[in-house]
Amino acid sequence: MKTSHLYKSAFIAGSAWLLAGAVHATSITISCGAVGAELQLCEEGVAAWRAKTGNHVELVSTPNSSTERLSLYQQLLSAGTQDIDVLQIDVVWPGMLAQHLLDLSPYTNGAENDHFESLVTNNTVDGKLVAMPWFTDAGVLYYRKDLLEKYQQPVPQTWEQLTEVAEHVQAQERSAGNNQMWGFVWQGRAYEGLTCDALEWIYSYNGGTIVDQEGNITINNPQAISALEMASSWINNISPPGVLNYAEEEARGVFQSGNAVFMRNWPYAWTLAQSEDSPIRGQVGVVALPKGGEDGRHAGTLGGWQLAVSRYSKNPEAAADLVNFLTSYEEQKRRAIKGSYNPTIAALYEDEEVLAEVPFFGELYETFLNGVPRPSSSTGNNYGRVSNATFNAVHSVLSGGQSAQEAVEDLERQLIRMSRRGW
Ligand code: GLC
Repeated sequence: MKTSHLYKSAFIAGSAWLLAGAVHATSITISCGAVGAELQLCEEGVAAWRAKTGNHVELVSTPNSSTERLSLYQQLLSAGTQDIDVLQIDVVWPGMLAQHLLDLSPYTNGAENDHFESLVTNNTVDGKLVAMPWFTDAGVLYYRKDLLEKYQQPVPQTWEQLTEVAEHVQAQERSAGNNQMWGFVWQGRAYEGLTCDALEWIYSYNGGTIVDQEGNITINNPQAISALEMASSWINNISPPGVLNYAEEEARGVFQSGNAVFMRNWPYAWTLAQSEDSPIRGQVGVVALPKGGEDGRHAGTLGGWQLAVSRYSKNPEAAADLVNFLTSYEEQKRRAIKGSYNPTIAALYEDEEVLAEVPFFGELYETFLNGVPRPSSSTGNNYGRVSNATFNAVHSVLSGGQSAQEAVEDLERQLIRMSRRGW
């Protein structure tokens, strides 16, 4: 329902520029995300390119959920639409969308060599550079410095510790009359974001990556089961039942209004939490996500977005020029400073102006460099199905429909069936 509505609005936006485009030499349509300040930053970048080149650009905003965005793009691209020239694509999509995307290497003048090599490799499919890295992401832990200080609690190193601290602070705050307070908010809706959160829990307990790099299905193991049991114990204890329907922005809404001690989110939430009108401005710390017990490890799922040019674009040259402009050093610097979007160019992690605004870009550099990839390279075209099966299985554990053991056994069976067709 929602998707077909969006399809329509994307289509109408596309037609509008077609009409308007009659008087312009070149018209480009770009789809941008709209999470937090994303759309505004995209608009500003696009306006600068428009001023520089004199070209006309139309923006199409897309659904916040990566899962919904993917199905919208799949509908548009499989219909061979010419309505979108430049697409913002998730780090897990190159394998699934490559057939619809242009090889950018003839247009970049080697600029990709300045970006993280792992992302360039990720975006190269069958020798084609199908997208340029725009910003990278890794899950991080936000915490309330003031509340931990007030109750003399440590910044948690393990999930067990996080649970204890969250319980303690939540109970104290509630008995002091703050009934809205919760310990921990995160992304529990059945969508791509839950796959990201679950991968962090599982990997932090040394429970693997659901499917490993060679394509072996590894999800059915005791550490993965413990990780999911731990997460389901949070519901209605330190996490509100509503978390089962939270994406990034819902979690941020609760945390930023002052009603949570901890939040799992991506770096974009930093600038917004620190903004002038934020009730928690100056009270926020950011660290690596906790380890799964003493033998576990800190793990942040690798996220991030790329810019690609549709193979059906009528203006590939101008579209690629816009991609080069938006992914450039200067533009990534502006986005890092104004919106805490992680650059994909290593040098920007040493830039004084960037570090002054977002100190944790320096402190957590390793987390960003070594984000845990979802199994999108090993499962290729099947990744969408793998992720859907994963977030549905995890959601059923969190909502009490299945035990963690039943869910991973079921998930394993589904993945085996999918893999029989090859991945
Ligand atoms: C962020 C990440 C992206 C991920 C999404 C899940 O946007 O950058 O990679 O798929 O969150 O919600």
